[in-house]
Amino acid sequence: MRNIVILISGSGSNMAAIAQTAQREQWATKYGAKVASVISNKADAAGLQWAQAHGIATDVLDHKVFANREAFDAELAKRIDAYDTPQSPALVVLAGFMRILTPGMVQHYAGRLVNIHPSLLPAFAGLNTHQRAIDAGCQFAGATVHQVTAELDHGTILAQAVVPVFLNDDARTLAVRVLSQEHRIFPQAIAKLLAQNAIK
Ligand code: GRF
Repeated sequence: MRNIVILISGSGSNMAAIAQTAQREQWATKYGAKVASVISNKADAAGLQWAQAHGIATDVLDHKVFANREAFDAELAKRIDAYDTPQSPALVVLAGFMRILTPGMVQHYAGRLVNIHPSLLPAFAGLNTHQRAIDAGCQFAGATVHQVTAELDHGTILAQAVVPVFLNDDARTLAVRVLSQEHRIFPQAIAKLLAQNAIK
């Protein structure tokens, strides 16, 4: 069995979309994969309750109690690596996880660490993507699923979705439109990785 460990910081709607797709499309039978754990750096992340209600193990690791990024990442890696199996290392999915991982951490999960970013990368890496797209006069916006590398919001693009930007959009209305596409492309991209057996 390949365990999928999903890291979140907030509402966890992408995590839920992935877990629901895994159920509906029988990833366990098809790919020998299951969403095994959801880890949040925030105790009040709403996604934790959703995961618990759906029988997924949850864990909280508050970054604020660690002296530095390295110490936090070391403990996080320990908890993730508990989901490695003798057959296969865990697949690590960043789904609205609002912490930057250290280069050592990224290296440790090379090739099996994916992220979703709410812009059409390489445009608008970093924060406030929707407002920045509106301010730049973009007529289209979107989301990108990508492999995680040490450079923030870079790494091989696995999937993208495009949505229109309307004249009366604000960051909130645009975010809603983009998020609905995130829920479609993120599970798809993960299924594709699993199907290709692309994670070593
Ligand atoms: C998503 O837009 C994601 O792309 C961004 O943060 C949001 C998280 O939403 N990084 P959710 O927690 O998956 O609902």
